[in-house]
Amino acid sequence: MHTSLRAVLLGLAAATASAYGQTTLRIATDHTDLVLQTDGEGRLCQTYFGPKLRHASDVEALAPLTARGHEAYATEDGRNFFEPALGVTHSDGNPSGRLRYVSSTTAPVDGGTQTDVVLRDEAYPLDVVLHYVAYEQEDVIATWTDIRHSEPGPVTLTRYASALLYVPGGSYYLTEFTGDWAREAQPSSQQLQPGKKTVDSKLGSRAAMLASPFFEVGLGAPVEEGRGTVLMGTVAWTGNFSLTFEVDNADVLRVVPGINPYASAYELAADETFTTPRFVFTLSHEGTGHGSRNLHDWARRHALHNGTGSRMTLLNNWESTGFAFDEERLRGLMGQARRLGTDAFLLDDGWFGRKYPRNNDRTSLGDWTPAPEKLPGGLGALTRAARDSGVHFGLWLEPEMVSPKSELYEQHPDWAIGYPNRKPYYFRNQLVLDLANPEVQRHVAGTVVELLSKHPDITFIKWDCNSPIMNAWSPYLGRRQGRLYTDHVRGLYNVLDAVRRARPDVEMMLCAGGGGRCDYGALRYFDEFWPSDNTDPVERLYIQWGFSQFFPAKAMCAHVTGWNGAASLKFRTDVASMCKLGFDIDPARLSSREQAFCREAVANWRSLAPAVMEGDQYRLVSPHTSDHMAVGYVSKDRALGVLFAYDIHPRYDGRPGAVRLAGLDPDRRYRVEEVNLMPGARPSLPAHGRTLTGDYLMKVGLDVFTGRQMNSRVVRLTAE
Ligand code: DGJ
Repeated sequence: MHTSLRAVLLGLAAATASAYGQTTLRIATDHTDLVLQTDGEGRLCQTYFGPKLRHASDVEALAPLTARGHEAYATEDGRNFFEPALGVTHSDGNPSGRLRYVSSTTAPVDGGTQTDVVLRDEAYPLDVVLHYVAYEQEDVIATWTDIRHSEPGPVTLTRYASALLYVPGGSYYLTEFTGDWAREAQPSSQQLQPGKKTVDSKLGSRAAMLASPFFEVGLGAPVEEGRGTVLMGTVAWTGNFSLTFEVDNADVLRVVPGINPYASAYELAADETFTTPRFVFTLSHEGTGHGSRNLHDWARRHALHNGTGSRMTLLNNWESTGFAFDEERLRGLMGQARRLGTDAFLLDDGWFGRKYPRNNDRTSLGDWTPAPEKLPGGLGALTRAARDSGVHFGLWLEPEMVSPKSELYEQHPDWAIGYPNRKPYYFRNQLVLDLANPEVQRHVAGTVVELLSKHPDITFIKWDCNSPIMNAWSPYLGRRQGRLYTDHVRGLYNVLDAVRRARPDVEMMLCAGGGGRCDYGALRYFDEFWPSDNTDPVERLYIQWGFSQFFPAKAMCAHVTGWNGAASLKFRTDVASMCKLGFDIDPARLSSREQAFCREAVANWRSLAPAVMEGDQYRLVSPHTSDHMAVGYVSKDRALGVLFAYDIHPRYDGRPGAVRLAGLDPDRRYRVEEVNLMPGARPSLPAHGRTLTGDYLMKVGLDVFTGRQMNSRVVRLTAE
């Protein structure tokens, strides 16, 4: 059925009167139902969340629990004993809220159906609007909330969750993803017990690093890749987030996702709207693998900037030069980028600072003009050189920061976040600009836009953010410091909006000292992110495995570098080839055989893009439960597949047997070819050159693993 017609019909069905004379709202994807109904008091309650109900009459048969039931956006109302979604102190000091259903609308939106529900406080002029977008095809729901009022004075919001979801399951097994610099997104699991568990962050200028803004909950059993019911969710917010999981007295799990209210009692003026970030979730009945594929499809179609467009491979200079380069060195690297067959050369940190040249990480952030000693011809000479070499030119920026030793700080010390009357703490010797201040937003956006319009040949930006908010006090906000963490992130979004309005075409990589930023709030503006500075291929296998739970390969940059010299160039390249491939080495230091290998790997990666970048991902063998790892990708038309297989540190005779593929067409025949071989090396895969059916490949599988340390294989499967 035509999507919009279907959505209109859904809309008509979405708000109906039930047997109890109450309103019923059905937020439905192809396989999931979330049902909301009003109760006898006019409260909106969640009455169902689970697999899609087959009969509409069954939806009508649902009924809210009484009194302490599952209020869709529970408040502190005097009888709610669990974690509320909304905490509000009204302008007269009354610290309670009682929301009643007013109205709802349902309408088609791009790729889904949006339901908006207006709730109003029974005694105060305060409205809460709950928004839900059901992306039917991807089985993903995005939900967020607007809060506004017209009271005589400001109200204070002490909690403002994006949503409150009641999950029935009896027992719950949480997987969270924590870590640190260079060991991002490491999964750990636990059974949730009665009471609360919170995963949150307080880093201010970024969501992640120590904890990630996404989670998985296995219902009834720990999460598994290929089976079981799992809720996978993420908060699309580039700052402090909070995910609270509370198992209540009836063994129902309450999930309360949103901005972390830590140090953030938010004073909301009359007629101002507080909009929470989106909480995005999917319910999979076939394990985390299926849930990830739902999210990957959703991300490419509806969340990433230019999600369906192509991506450039590149050569970066950070690992090979650090801060020490000049024009000639960069020209050399641009030529190498071309010879490798990459699309772009990316100039990293160290190119700027007129008064204080950036030769280390102690100076110059904020002074975005080329350092004359290193780059006498300025950026113009570099973009021309890139053009002459036949590659695109990319540039590193860290626009939200300022070094205490910079011209910008000398002129505007009050533009940096920092406590009055205290010596500042520094993180990487720098301070965070006060993006709650509109003047600072204008300056930052103006600087980036001007740079890009002066140099239209800059077609790639790596946007870094190396410091969390330290010394959390905004000179601009004065006594309204409760707004700092939230308004700072909104200020960042204003900056990014302005940059994207000016240059929607520039490919942008999101980076925060590695993977400190990996959230769908920022990724609206970015084509991709940098998962980690740790490019040791063994470590990267684990990090990429972690992020792949929520992000498609297309969004994750992986570069071949010199980290872990014990690993072969092939192993390093094969690990990077399962995401968006790039290089951060000096190719001139490679032998001509190695250079030829890299060239061919780039060409192979391009030809495999319909599977790796645009297709379905199958995590087949986990590095967490074996000494190996295997991941397969299949193009949407199932004409092309690729299997990446890695032997990490196999033990004697510890081979796990053949890897059974997934997602192929059982009735088609696939030519099996081992690719990404060093020049002159012969394929050693036993099945190389054979043609096998998808059914065989998925039931019998391929013998891809070996007993060799850090060995890898890339296998291309082409349908005949
Ligand atoms: C941190 C990033 O993660 C690195 O890739 C590099 O760009 C440095 N910053 C540069 O200072």
